[in-house]
Amino acid sequence: MNAPGPATTVTPPEQVFDWLDAEADRRAEAGLVRRLRPRGPEARELDLAGNDYLGLARDKRVAGAAAAAALRWGAGSTGSRLVTGSTELHAELEHQLARFCGTQAALVFSSGFTANLGAVTTLSGAESAIVTDKYIHASLIEGCRLSRADVAAVAHRDPAAVAHALATRRKRRALVVTDSVFSVDGDLAPLGELSRVCREHGAALLVDDAHGLGVLGAGGRGAVHEAGLSGEPDVVTTITLSKSLGAQGGAVLGPRRVIKHLVDTARSFIFDTGLAPASAAAALTALGVLRDEPELPGRVLGTARALAERLGAAGFTVSSPDGAVVSVHAPGPDEAVAWAARCAEHGVRVGCFRPPSVPDGVSRLRLTARADLAESDVDRAVQVITDAAPPGAR
Ligand SMILES: Cc1ncc(COP(=O)(O)O)c(C=O)c1O
Repeated sequence: MNAPGPATTVTPPEQVFDWLDAEADRRAEAGLVRRLRPRGPEARELDLAGNDYLGLARDKRVAGAAAAAALRWGAGSTGSRLVTGSTELHAELEHQLARFCGTQAALVFSSGFTANLGAVTTLSGAESAIVTDKYIHASLIEGCRLSRADVAAVAHRDPAAVAHALATRRKRRALVVTDSVFSVDGDLAPLGELSRVCREHGAALLVDDAHGLGVLGAGGRGAVHEAGLSGEPDVVTTITLSKSLGAQGGAVLGPRRVIKHLVDTARSFIFDTGLAPASAAAALTALGVLRDEPELPGRVLGTARALAERLGAAGFTVSSPDGAVVSVHAPGPDEAVAWAARCAEHGVRVGCFRPPSVPDGVSRLRLTARADLAESDVDRAVQVITDAAPPGAR
C-alpha cells in the first residue's frame, strides 16, 4: 500500500485536478489550445476540411440506406461483434470490401482507429520487431505502444532506412507499418519498394490505406491495390469507412488466416461494441456507388492538383498531392489558427494542423479535395486563402 507518510499533506478533492490548469496554461502559451466548432446541418461554408472525398456522406442513397437500416436493425448494434453485434449487414459489408479491394477476407471494426490498434497489436508482440515510417497516423503509433514489440520509427518514405532497421533487428518476427497516403501532406509511400524490402527480410507489411481507398487505384480500390499488393500473402491493409465511403467505421483486409487471428485475439474488436447497422449499411451502399461510378476518384485527384498548382503559383509552400490532401505551410501555430479562422469568416472551411499533430513541427493549413467541387469552388478557395494569408506565409 502507498499510504501517504506523516510528512505528506493530502491534496483536497477540489485541488486534485489543479495540475490540469498548469497544463492548459502551457498549451495556451505554445498556441496549442484546440476548440470545438459545432456545425449546423446546412452547409454554409465551402468545406475543404472534411474527409468526405467523394461527397457521399450526404448522398441520398447512402444516407437513406443508413436511415432504413436504423429502422430495420436498430440504432445500435447491441453488443460486441462476437456476441450480438454482428448482423447480416456486417457480414455482407466484409464480403463486399474484400471483393472490391481484392483480398481474401475483411473484418469490420467500429472505427479506423480501432482497426489499426487491432491490426498492429495482433500482428506483433513482445517477440516482434516493428519498423514504421516516422509520420504514420496516431492510431498506428498507439498500436505500436500497446504492442510491447521493439519499435523503430525511421525516416519518412525511406525503404533503405526500413531495410537497415530490419537487418539490424534483434527479434526474428517483423512487421513494417506505413500509411499509404500520409495524412498531413498527402504524399504516397513507396509501397512496391517497401514490399520488396519486407520480402528480403522476411517481414510482413501493414498499410493504412485510409486516404487511398476511393481516391487511388482502379475505380478507387486504393493504393495497395494500385501497387499490386492487395492479394499478397504477406500484406495486410487497414481502411476507414469514414472518408471516401462517407460513413463511419473501419476494417482490416488481408489473408483469411490473418482475419481469423484478429477475430480470436484483437482486443479492440472483441471488447468493443460492433459498428452501428446504419453505418454498415451506409458503407455498403457507398461501395456500390463507387463501383457504379468509377470516375469519382479521378475527379478528386484533379481537384487536389488544381488547388495545389494554383496555391503554389500564388507563392505558398504547398505539398504535391498524391491523393486528396493538400497542405499549405504557415509561419507558425498561431498564424495557422488565425489564417484558418479568417478563411472560415469568408466562408471557406480549411483544416489547421500544428504540433503535436504534425511530425515535422511545421504548422499548416490542410485542404481536402472532393469529387463534387466545381471549378468555381476552387477559384473561390484560392482567392480566400490568398487574401487571408498572414505575413510570412509566402
Ligand atoms: C491515416 C488514418 N488512419 C486512421 C484513421 C482513423 O480512422 P477513423 O476516423 O475511422 O477512426 C484516420 C482518420 O482520422 C487516418 O487519417
